[in-house]
Amino acid sequence: MKAVVYRGSKDVRVEDVPDARIERPTDVLVRVTTTNICGSDLHMYEGRTDVEEGKVLGHENLGEVIEVGPAVDRVKVGDRVCLPFNIACGFCKNCERGFTAFCLSVNPGFAGGAYGYADMGPYSGGQAELLRVPYGDFNCLRLPPDAEEKENDYVMLADIWPTGHHATQLAGVAPGDSVVVYGAGPVGLMAAYSAQLIGASKVMVVDHQSDRLALAEKIGAIPVDPRKGSPVEQVMELTGGEGADKGCECVGWQGARPAGRRAPRADHERPRRLRPCHRRDRRRRGLRPGGPEGPR
Ligand SMILES: NC(=O)c1ccc[n+]([C@@H]2O[C@H](COP(=O)([O-])OP(=O)(O)OC[C@H]3O[C@@H](n4cnc5c(N)ncnc54)[C@H](O)[C@@H]3O)[C@@H](O)[C@H]2O)c1
Ligand SMILES: [Zn+2]
Ligand SMILES: [Zn+2]
Repeated sequence: MKAVVYRGSKDVRVEDVPDARIERPTDVLVRVTTTNICGSDLHMYEGRTDVEEGKVLGHENLGEVIEVGPAVDRVKVGDRVCLPFNIACGFCKNCERGFTAFCLSVNPGFAGGAYGYADMGPYSGGQAELLRVPYGDFNCLRLPPDAEEKENDYVMLADIWPTGHHATQLAGVAPGDSVVVYGAGPVGLMAAYSAQLIGASKVMVVDHQSDRLALAEKIGAIPVDPRKGSPVEQVMELTGGEGADKGCECVGWQGARPAGRRAPRADHERPRRLRPCHRRDRRRRGLRPGGPEGPR
């Protein structure tokens, strides 16, 4: 099959690789029909991780089931499915508590697995013609009859929309709130969209890329362009001097200064550095007794 293969920093290629296939009875095999490139793929592409050479990338996948293992019960050949990017077993201690992103079964020695991603287990990604889905009954999100017609919408469920929505949940966005979202990439736009679905009274999106600000405006948010002045002052003005009730940070690692210049943390920092962040975050979650909204 053809697949997008990581060969090194800033070097990915479409190559012929062995076909993905059923390896365990609980596997499902999917013919990929839509797959996205994520902002997170850039961490690997730009050399900030220790992803191994030869890895097939792609964790935002959607397609048609073409084969199921003998232990698969719920998913059938012909189903159209979206594959959320975290691979999980569904039955370990963390999965049972709802922390499927930190599954203890799928990536021994680490918590959490994913398709085609650094340090997230030996799984190939879906920027390929075929994708093996482990624990298929748990990891396939079966789509309704309009799946083909709305494929470009449903594929957003693989990662980007839940991530943007999660930002609004961590911020505690409630009906009537004014909300400021930093970053108008896919995650920020989905956060802005989710905030509106929740019933925010005003959603402001800060970014210095005009095409992205135009998209923010198209979905009903107020674009805030730092090139036109301090975003803080613009938000203060838009909120009658009060400031936003809630804020969502959706820029991530590659934050730039307002003029568009890169912040000092550069691409050439040592690899593996994302990994300690991952661990620290888990520890913090464990230690904060009130959960994400508890006392810090
Ligand atoms: N599930 C997850 O954990 C998950 C999923 C997807 C993405 N991510 C992460 O979320 C981050 C954003 O993802 P994305 O795909 O939207 O990325 P992206 O790079 O497409 O978008 C980031 C946006 O932030 C803007 N920006 C940079 N500096 C800014 C500043 N100082 N003020 C305002 N805006 C600024 C950029 O212009 C860009 O439009 C990435 O770090 C990515 O790795 C996490
Ligand atoms: Zn992603
Ligand atoms: Zn699990």
